[in-house]
Amino acid sequence: MSDSGAEVVVEHVHKRFGQVTALQDVSLRVASGEVVGIAGRSGSGKSTLLALIGGLEAPDSGDVLIDGEPIWRRRHTAHVRREIVGFVFQRHLLLESLSALANVEVPLLGAGVRRAERRRRALSLLREVGLEHRADHLPSQLSGGERQRVAVARAITNEPRLLLADEPTGALDSGTSERVLDLLFGLRDRLGMTMIVVSYDTAVGARADRTVTLIDGQIVEEGAPAPPGPGGRSGIEGQSGIEGQPGPQGRSELRGRA
Ligand SMILES: Nc1ncnc2c1ncn2[C@@H]1O[C@H](COP(=O)(O)OP(=O)(O)O)[C@@H](O)[C@H]1O
Ligand SMILES: [Mg+2]
Repeated sequence: MSDSGAEVVVEHVHKRFGQVTALQDVSLRVASGEVVGIAGRSGSGKSTLLALIGGLEAPDSGDVLIDGEPIWRRRHTAHVRREIVGFVFQRHLLLESLSALANVEVPLLGAGVRRAERRRRALSLLREVGLEHRADHLPSQLSGGERQRVAVARAITNEPRLLLADEPTGALDSGTSERVLDLLFGLRDRLGMTMIVVSYDTAVGARADRTVTLIDGQIVEEGAPAPPGPGGRSGIEGQSGIEGQPGPQGRSELRGRA
């Protein structure tokens, strides 16, 4: 594991799906090792932003720089996906026919790691997430929280310097959510990766270094005033999401919108 987290810069990104504008001139800077929460209503563009940062979805214009390297213009996105980024999704997306151990091994398959070494590393990752004793179980034999912990183990198999999590606790009850968050934030503290977490969960906002909110595909810096309604966003449109100052309301109001 590299001991430094990746630096992420999103520069004036636009993304449309047909008639839908998913992201509109979004800029964001995440420092090495920083943990940023992304809040916002359903449909505000959170998943799209995460997919662009992780090299899963191409922007119409603008770019994403990881450690200063533009990942889209230089078409070096496969490298970013494989070597730099780990993903955790709301639904764990484990392969149902594979054991927990084999699921964690998957990212190592294309990396030329020998079988014994793959097993050793996958087992140690399962130990890391407290599931060594479940190594041979299929996903269907695990609880929701256990499956998500396996998904977290898989996400860090390649020792990512950037961990992207899209509503990682969205399908879990509150007690289980807290365990998964303890795990994610504990790993981050120990491994030092940069982390971007999309979540409705106020517990994520409380633990993140900073939270940005997306409204209708535009970023509003932490604590910035919420728009009065459709078409009334002119007051915040000019903010890049990088230099914006917290507004007097604090951030609880914004998070309440999520
Ligand atoms: N693959 C897609 N095809 C068409 N529309 C999409 C696609 N992905 C996202 N969208 C639309 O883009 C907008 C933002 O979606 P998304 O990023 O998933 O929002 P969020 O994660 O905040 O709920 C929504 O209006 C959504 O319907
Ligand atoms: Mg989403």
